[in-house]
Amino acid sequence: MSAAIVEQLTAIVGSANVLTTGLDRYEVDWTRRYSGRALCVVRPANTSEVAAIVSWARRVGVALVPQGGNTGLVGGSVPRGGEVVVSLERLRHIGPVDALSRQVTVGAGVTIHDLHETARSAGLRYAVDFGARGSATVGGSVATNAGGINVVRYGMTRQQIVGVEAVLGTGEIVSHLQGLLKDNTGFDLASLLCGSEGTLGIVTAVRVRLVTEQPARVTALAGFDRVETAVEAMASLCRSLDTVDAAELMLDSGVELVEAAVGVSSPIPRAAAYLLVECSAHDDQSESLGTILESAPGLNDVAISVTPSQRDALWRLRDEHTPSINTLGPPLKYDVTVPIDRLAGFVSSIGRVVSDVAPSARTFVFGHAADGNMHVNVSGAVDRDDEVTEAVLRAVVAEGGSISAEHGIGVAKARWLHLNRSAVEIGAMRAIKAALDPDGIMNPGVLFAD
Ligand code: FAD
Ligand code: LAC
Ligand code: ZN
Repeated sequence: MSAAIVEQLTAIVGSANVLTTGLDRYEVDWTRRYSGRALCVVRPANTSEVAAIVSWARRVGVALVPQGGNTGLVGGSVPRGGEVVVSLERLRHIGPVDALSRQVTVGAGVTIHDLHETARSAGLRYAVDFGARGSATVGGSVATNAGGINVVRYGMTRQQIVGVEAVLGTGEIVSHLQGLLKDNTGFDLASLLCGSEGTLGIVTAVRVRLVTEQPARVTALAGFDRVETAVEAMASLCRSLDTVDAAELMLDSGVELVEAAVGVSSPIPRAAAYLLVECSAHDDQSESLGTILESAPGLNDVAISVTPSQRDALWRLRDEHTPSINTLGPPLKYDVTVPIDRLAGFVSSIGRVVSDVAPSARTFVFGHAADGNMHVNVSGAVDRDDEVTEAVLRAVVAEGGSISAEHGIGVAKARWLHLNRSAVEIGAMRAIKAALDPDGIMNPGVLFAD
């Protein structure tokens, strides 16, 4: 790497924040499937430094890869080779919680966990939550429009954002952080940047809405004889109760793997399919939840927890799916949505779709049942990666589904974007990219396959 580049970046962020060695944690993604060499890593401290970096990159013609917690699962957070990684980890400012509007403005590098703690300390709650909460950042979650476990009740990240500050690919700063709930003054840039995966600009701060913390929380793990009956029970719960925060589906193969990999054990006997359901309200929902589950056809057994430690034990069975599957080696990961009426059929048949093209592969399916969002993880596909990807994604599209529910397209799915988006839609997206990132320096190779 040229001394001139280090010198120019040092002038912007200081020598301690231009890293040229020991870059592994910035260059290799969480799954260890994606990696590439960075020219260097820069760690700006504020929005002006980010703007100076983007303007510098335009001037010298270097591409940038924005990075938050590097927990993304589609290869978009690490270099492909020769880019500068812009780590937002120092943008950790947390503003005061505004109790009147129930909003807070936070820096892009604040973790989801720290945002939860901030909200909790004000008697409120940030509604987006997922297993990578300890490392994933607010900026990364906006860039990917992260979903997670509470979407059924509160929506995705896009539904939580009431303002954003960002540096566009032009090097210009946009700052719209007033947090007005009603603000129809033209295009919604916050919405546009949400889900743009670092291809349009770098998010530096976000204003989010917080929701009321419901004091009574109950979590249930229910085992069913078949996937169909588990899905029917989930639908029945969501029809009857408006207090359902999460309704997650797991299968026997996944729970067995988690038990072996991390040593947690299910409090109920083995079952073909499991529903993990959480409700929260002002009053205790245990009775309503228990009554509906106990009368559900196909129920084998149910465990209901109201204490935080029992609850955590149940959630570990779910949260540890992704890390446990990774212990078998980097899997092929598909994050898909299908219409709810196709969900049970899809879950039951997708393993066969995989084994038809990769007979030695193992397929794990789990996910956010109430959203129709399943994570299909394939281990041991050997040399059949593209064949498996074609088969799985085409099966999803044949069911009327989406090839990316919440993780994004990244580099992993860029070649398959056309399965869900028409040429006109892709053309419109490219036109927006050309306007906001005229030199194509923002995360090239992500979203659009070139
Ligand atoms: P990174 O991984 O650093 O980056 C992700 C993408 O965003 C990249 O394209 C990057 O270039 C871009 N980016 C990062 N920061 C910025 C910024 N400030 N401005 C512009 N672009 C930026 N995701 C879900 O949606 N739901 C889940 O339930 C879920 N569970 C997970 C569980 C585990 C165990 C793991 C490892 C991941 C999970 N994820 C989940 C995926 C991941 O955590 C999310 O995509 C998260 O939002 C990424 O945040 P990050 O800060 O790690 O972003
Ligand atoms: C989850 C991640 C993989 O839901 O999205 O566990
Ligand atoms: Zn998920």
